[in-house]
Amino acid sequence: MQGATTEMTNAAEMQQRVEQFAGQVVTDLAAAMAGVMTNLGHKLGLYRAMAESGPVTAEQLARRTSTNERSVREWLHGQVAGDYVRFDAHSGQYTLPPEHAFVLANPESPAFLPPAFDVAASLWHDEDEIFEAFRSGKGMGWHEHNCRLFSATEAFFRNGYRAHLTQSWIPALDGVQERLAEGGRVADVGCGHGASAILMAQAFPKATIVGIDYHESSIAVAKERAKEAGVGDRVRFEVGTARVLASRDEKFDLICFMDSLHDMGDPLEAVWAARQALAQDRALMLVEPFAKDTPEENGRSYSEDVLLGFSRALHAERVVAGRTVRAWRAGRSKAVAGNREGGGIPKRSGCDGDTVQSDSGGKGVEQGSGSLDVSRVGAIPL
Ligand SMILES: C[S@@+](CC[C@H](N)C(=O)[O-])C[C@H]1O[C@@H](n2cnc3c(N)ncnc32)[C@H](O)[C@@H]1O
Repeated sequence: MQGATTEMTNAAEMQQRVEQFAGQVVTDLAAAMAGVMTNLGHKLGLYRAMAESGPVTAEQLARRTSTNERSVREWLHGQVAGDYVRFDAHSGQYTLPPEHAFVLANPESPAFLPPAFDVAASLWHDEDEIFEAFRSGKGMGWHEHNCRLFSATEAFFRNGYRAHLTQSWIPALDGVQERLAEGGRVADVGCGHGASAILMAQAFPKATIVGIDYHESSIAVAKERAKEAGVGDRVRFEVGTARVLASRDEKFDLICFMDSLHDMGDPLEAVWAARQALAQDRALMLVEPFAKDTPEENGRSYSEDVLLGFSRALHAERVVAGRTVRAWRAGRSKAVAGNREGGGIPKRSGCDGDTVQSDSGGKGVEQGSGSLDVSRVGAIPL
């Protein structure tokens, strides 16, 4: 009799746990579907129009944005259900609260998130290739992804760089800001569309800035962006892998990997090559996703969940120059280990920043890309 009761309790508990977990998956599913609507809200200018207008009816919003009223009404209902938008049943008006506008409607804000949905969209687009990569173990190169990834990455990271790169990250490195103010040379490795290189060229007009990326079409866009920003003559963009650093005569005062080291097939070789190209006493700066090295350290955190999802899909494993290496998601300890193996680099000092954390490898600056706390900067003066 007691056995039967225990079995029933176990079955009830199991059912409860299944329901709870199913609820969690349905929430994720809702987010995946609602992501398309968020992206549309951004691209159709619906959020921006709401931010500018204040409380608005569906009809007014459709008119302001030259969109179909019925579709906009449905969209608004979804936005209310997702708690992105507030609805006043009495007036029939919808409102985008100012703090939501900061995240959804202000492209200059460091917390502006819509471009991240295009990163997610590019991964769905590449699902078949990623499927194959899981089977073959060959992984996918950055250049093999859907092109939405490239512009979305630029737009997603750029505002964080705008808010922090020249204001707090570079000043946190011993003597680097002073050197660049007088002249000096910077290599931005894995520069993508050049957002960070352009910011440095704007902040340090006397310095020579070189952006390097193996992805030819990203370099072409970076050159255009530099021209548009009026610094085309102050920043040089080159197609090449991180490895080229090792064999060039030019030495740099600062070499940075801005959210790029984890994308490189052989990050240890990249850091080793950077070491060869650094002028004496100068600095290597890593800006990396803020996820930790092990599942137990990561726990259940939403931002780490997102980052690890990207990491699985984007990096997996690569074949680079005939060698298969496991690409990685940089936790701080790996970045430091990478440096040790990459050339026996002594750590002379840490640096200060918004929040300083110490670990087995010394001190590093830990900062969010914007307020999201998704990036980590490890500064390792050499
Ligand atoms: C996540 S994106 C970051 C781009 C840019 N730094 C930014 O923050 O917008 C990573 C970049 O690393 C580049 N990359 C990957 N492996 C590389 C390698 N071995 N050498 C140079 N660039 C590389 C990719 O082409 C891509 O542009």
